[in-house]
Amino acid sequence: MKILVIGSGGREHAIIYSILKSGRNVDLYCAPGNGGISDNAKIVNIKYDDIEGLVNFSLSEKIDLTIVGPEVPLSLGISDKFLHNGLKIFGPSQKGALLESSKQFAKEFLKRNNIKTADYRSFNDFETAYAYVQNRQHPIVIKASGLAAGKGVFIPQNVIESKDYLDLIFNKKIFGKSGETVVIEDYLEGFELSYMIATDGKTYKSLATSMDYKKAYDGDKGENTGGMGSISPHPFLSADLEEKIKKNIIEPVLSALKNEGIIYKGVLYAGLMIKGDDIYVLEFNVRFGDPETQSILIRLKSDIVGLFESCINETLADYNLEFDDEQAVCLVLSSAGYPGMYEKGFEILFGEYEKYFHYSADGLGCTDCIDKDEAQDKNKVKVKNEVKNEAIYIFHAGTKKIGNRYFTDGGRVLNLCSKNKDLKIATNDIYKAAGAIQFKNKYYRQDIGIISI
Ligand code: AMP
Ligand code: GLY
Repeated sequence: MKILVIGSGGREHAIIYSILKSGRNVDLYCAPGNGGISDNAKIVNIKYDDIEGLVNFSLSEKIDLTIVGPEVPLSLGISDKFLHNGLKIFGPSQKGALLESSKQFAKEFLKRNNIKTADYRSFNDFETAYAYVQNRQHPIVIKASGLAAGKGVFIPQNVIESKDYLDLIFNKKIFGKSGETVVIEDYLEGFELSYMIATDGKTYKSLATSMDYKKAYDGDKGENTGGMGSISPHPFLSADLEEKIKKNIIEPVLSALKNEGIIYKGVLYAGLMIKGDDIYVLEFNVRFGDPETQSILIRLKSDIVGLFESCINETLADYNLEFDDEQAVCLVLSSAGYPGMYEKGFEILFGEYEKYFHYSADGLGCTDCIDKDEAQDKNKVKVKNEVKNEAIYIFHAGTKKIGNRYFTDGGRVLNLCSKNKDLKIATNDIYKAAGAIQFKNKYYRQDIGIISI
């Protein structure tokens, strides 16, 4: 079976790992992929926003199943176009993707369906928005309505800061078209949680829970990033709270989608704020979270291809989605400066971790690995199954491969993941690897897996 994965990050590498782990006989393609992915899938040099190109490629290669990682192609209607061409694809329709690509749409959707979210107003010009914030209590939350790669939310502490942010968005147009509409909402206090499910449009299955470390620096300080690490399961999510999230948020959202005739087959990620007994929706993502997915998928016991197929074929009710009971952690090694400006193009030296190429001690995805028993000369071959006790999974994010060497090619460079019954052991293992793997301007948080947030 031919499977195409769209995207180029650690999330996509983890999805590819899970597909390989499923043991299915697959021919894997990835567009556009990255340095690590190029070792495990055929790289397709088509950008993920070139929908026409991806359709044509999938038709000519007779791709059986396509998985969409990032939000941009979904917001451009890739699912609708694939379906129109008789191609199977995992990911919501363009209308469904509006839940992420238009915060204004998401807020209106929540309000009209009586699902809790912070009170808000939307604005299309600086003057009216500025007049509004002058009479509002601060902190307040200012959000570019469109996609902004996780950087479109500001929390000004006073009117002067609000004015500056509105000026940046409306007048300096730092988010371009994505900032033409701005949502201004009340600031909510509480604790944050994200919850992911997979749905076939009829029913849903919850993914393992996870917690994302969003801020750039230790102690959750600094700017918001795409995510600097994650752990799974979520340490503070009780069974009781999970039940409430399903009843008060997930199920009403899914039935509202159905009632409004919005086709949604894929992952829905709800960013939530828990305040006493109340659960508020802060945002939706219409795809797997990155880097939450990496720590979730290394715990997956079921066949991920079956998950994708059952969502597409509307047979999810019959699919058994299972995760192991280990504690997983994922640490992002980034280029210093991310999420702002950073340099790239530096060689990555894996040192002793070369043997984890690129996945794990189980040798999955290692095309030239052989079993330990078969190894005649361990110095010459990459040996499978050599290290059992500290399985590190190395997923590539912003990397590029030139010849046999790997180079940094983005803000988030590598994801080091591990799991163990004891989170401390898993965390120690990834930090050992984080110290040993070298590249210029390497930066990572020191407190991932050391829970408090
Ligand atoms: P979003 O992309 O909408 O989830 O916003 C990014 C981050 O901004 C969230 O993870 C929260 O930390 C924060 N945030 C967003 N909306 C609110 C709100 N209404 N009150 C407090 N914090 C918020
Ligand atoms: N880690 C949050 C996201 O994927 O948007």
